[in-house]
Amino acid sequence: MPTLEQSLFTHLANNLSAAADPIAGDPAQLMVAAGLTPDAWQAELLQSQWQRALLLCSRQAGKSTVTAALATHTAIYQPGSLTLLLSAAQRQSAELFKTVKTFYHAIPHRVPVAQESALQLELANGSRIVALPGKEATIRGFAGVDLLVIDEASRVEDALYYSTRPMLAVSGGRLICLTTPFGKRGFFHQEWTEGGESWHRTRITALDVPRITPEFLEEERRALGEWWFLQEYMCEFMETTDQVFSYDLIQAAMSSDIQPLFGG
Ligand SMILES: Nc1ncnc2c1ncn2[C@@H]1O[C@H](COP(=O)(O)OP(=O)(O)O)[C@@H](O)[C@H]1O
Ligand SMILES: [Mg+2]
Repeated sequence: MPTLEQSLFTHLANNLSAAADPIAGDPAQLMVAAGLTPDAWQAELLQSQWQRALLLCSRQAGKSTVTAALATHTAIYQPGSLTLLLSAAQRQSAELFKTVKTFYHAIPHRVPVAQESALQLELANGSRIVALPGKEATIRGFAGVDLLVIDEASRVEDALYYSTRPMLAVSGGRLICLTTPFGKRGFFHQEWTEGGESWHRTRITALDVPRITPEFLEEERRALGEWWFLQEYMCEFMETTDQVFSYDLIQAAMSSDIQPLFGG
């Protein structure tokens, strides 16, 4: 039990540091510091303590941006933490890492960099951010992960996802998956539809994104066609066009509480 003086001191010190550094207690302020006003869902994610979150978002919603802000905040204000940023491809990892560095430089009270390489930032407080292209082999070597973010999760291999689960179980780390849908397939779709209550789920269509205008959307609908438009902007898990049986039909056929058509 701390003494009254110790409690008072801690309280004052916290208030002082919050006054000196508003980003410390409110990660959404990191986006503000970088010149962006976070959308409501971005602020909610940044301020949350969600252990497991699935965010199904439109193209251009601001997934990668919020991901980079969350990673940067975690590294700066949680000393000794390890954050992994997984993307489907090398090019996306590099882009995400660039955004991380932009946010890092927006923090006035940032701890210095200890070491930096192409896709890795190590800070003087012992924290690390590593951006990785999503191949199962690349993440095998990491342990004690505090925050794992999977960007464009519906395009990341299932094997990669399943190999991260035990890693997080040991460290008690957070897992945040953000993506546009990509058919009724893959781990993201599985967790979104059948993953149970341990997940926090957020759905952000293009209509929720203030930077996307109705005129732009109408243009996209015409250019992409209805199928792609619904998937890319309206967050619909679409049937893949070459599928002979629809997903719902297959589910119905496998479900035990539906009577088989031809005797049993
Ligand atoms: N809250 C925001 N305010 C202003 N611009 C934003 C905001 N969030 C994202 N952006 C901008 O919107 C564009 C798309 O963001 P990005 O994170 O790449 O989207 P996504 O990964 O969902 O496709 C980028 O130019 C980014 O800087
Ligand atoms: Mg993105």
